[in-house]
Amino acid sequence: MNILFMGPPGAGKGTQAERIVGEFGIPHISTGDAFRLAMKQGTPLGLKAKEFVDQGKLVPDEITNGIVKERLAQDDCNKGFLLDGFPRTLQQAEALDVMLTELNRGIDHVVNLKVDRGLLLARLTGRRICKACGSTYHVMFNPPKQEGVCDKCGGELYQRSDDTEEKVGTRLDEYISKTAPLLDYYSGKGLLREVDGEKEIDTVTAEIVSCLRGSL
Ligand code: AP5
Ligand code: ZN
Repeated sequence: MNILFMGPPGAGKGTQAERIVGEFGIPHISTGDAFRLAMKQGTPLGLKAKEFVDQGKLVPDEITNGIVKERLAQDDCNKGFLLDGFPRTLQQAEALDVMLTELNRGIDHVVNLKVDRGLLLARLTGRRICKACGSTYHVMFNPPKQEGVCDKCGGELYQRSDDTEEKVGTRLDEYISKTAPLLDYYSGKGLLREVDGEKEIDTVTAEIVSCLRGSL
């Protein structure tokens, strides 16, 4: 199954993606995670991406498209994939169509997680992530058993540098002007599945699973 996850920053894409890839046995491809890894390693890609990510702006299309093209060509994507946070512009969506045509693949579902802007700020400023395994928590909505420590691996939790109030504002503006128009693009192709992302994490997972299994 080939799935795209869409939704504003903080809608729960990463949280749900972790669960859905487990359910369907497909790789999770997150362009945000790819940029953060490259930034941590200090590679040329990371240094370039940092200029944009640190301001809450989108990384230019040609850089982002190159990463996805390389990743989709790997063998483990033959069984399907979940793309999280890509595409985010019309140009990226069109480039993805070309990549998939070349690979003789298509998109099965585009899941859009809907969450109101007011709630997104609270979700992002309270988010904490495990340094070791990347699991996501929230200080109020999804706290770890022990403060600052990952339940799964005991790793230390940290706050993303773009999760400050000011940067979240820029990220939401970028989403509205550049990414939200893609919903019409995929709706026009009959691929869009809308899911209420404001419900409890387990409820959202169950709704996505039933959506993907075609029983809604
Ligand atoms: P990226 O990493 O993709 O960030 P994002 O889209 O801003 O999304 P987030 O990761 O912030 O949120 P999420 O929806 O995954 O929410 P989460 O599950 O963590 O991108 C970062 C940057 O990289 C971009 O700003 C850009 O610079 C660059 N970039 C990436 N892709 C790009 C592209 N294609 N083109 C150009 N540039 C690109 O949940 C958030 C919090 O809420 C967590 O604490 C979680 O525990 C909590 N939570 C989740 N679900 C619920 C729930 N149902 N109830 C209560 N709490 C919940
Ligand atoms: Zn961990």
